[in-house]
Amino acid sequence: MGRARTGKEFDSWFNQSNGDPWGYDGERIQKRLHRSFEFLKKNLKPETDILIEFGAFNGDFTEKLVKDAALPIFCNDISSVALSKIKSRFSDIPAEKLNFIEGDLLSIDLNVIRSFKRPAVLLLECLYYLNKNEQHESISRLIRDLSSPSFFISGPVLDGYLNEDELKSMFPASYKLVKIEVLNLKRGDRFFNLITPILNRSKLLRQSCANQVIYLFSKENS
Ligand SMILES: C[S@@+](CC[C@H](N)C(=O)[O-])C[C@H]1O[C@@H](n2cnc3c(N)ncnc32)[C@H](O)[C@@H]1O
Repeated sequence: MGRARTGKEFDSWFNQSNGDPWGYDGERIQKRLHRSFEFLKKNLKPETDILIEFGAFNGDFTEKLVKDAALPIFCNDISSVALSKIKSRFSDIPAEKLNFIEGDLLSIDLNVIRSFKRPAVLLLECLYYLNKNEQHESISRLIRDLSSPSFFISGPVLDGYLNEDELKSMFPASYKLVKIEVLNLKRGDRFFNLITPILNRSKLLRQSCANQVIYLFSKENS
């Protein structure tokens, strides 16, 4: 099978691989989650009033949000297998703090979160499961249906995942790519601290040396 796309495909992939095809216990993934969270903390606008996490999978990133962020969280996944695990993992967290909704980020009903005025949208390692047209459509819909969000988007820079120029072209002119940070390197992270400040500034070097990166798109003057 190619890359999973529907909730049923993700469910059966998760069921076949003991619930975790990626190995979330591994150091590389946990470091990437840590670096993504540090990036979020550093760049989150103080007026943000809700965090909307799409494609939350097992809730490892959600846990960081629950523990460390004072904001309410809205947590989504397309897979019912993933979402039921997250729900039981956080069963003691009150609904005012953490809410869940299952469904495809392309078509999910956003009415439940419309009352929030300054959301931050988190699309970490999930947007590239949609094809380019669907990615574009999802971003347009999120911008249209939610007021003035910031978008934190992560994924590999490899072909077939997230292309920086394509991503930029999916946002209207009022949104700017404010920041990019490298999350890990193609050939291992031995020189990570030394090399990433250079890669964060150079698109060319990033494309040849970086593996996963995180982007922040934000509406100008908001
Ligand atoms: C690699 S995990 C990412 C988990 C976490 N966000 C992270 O950064 O590690 C990808 C998750 O995205 C979910 N996903 C994929 N396509 C989706 C879609 N269209 N809508 C919502 N969730 C989706 C999958 O079910 C899976 O749980």
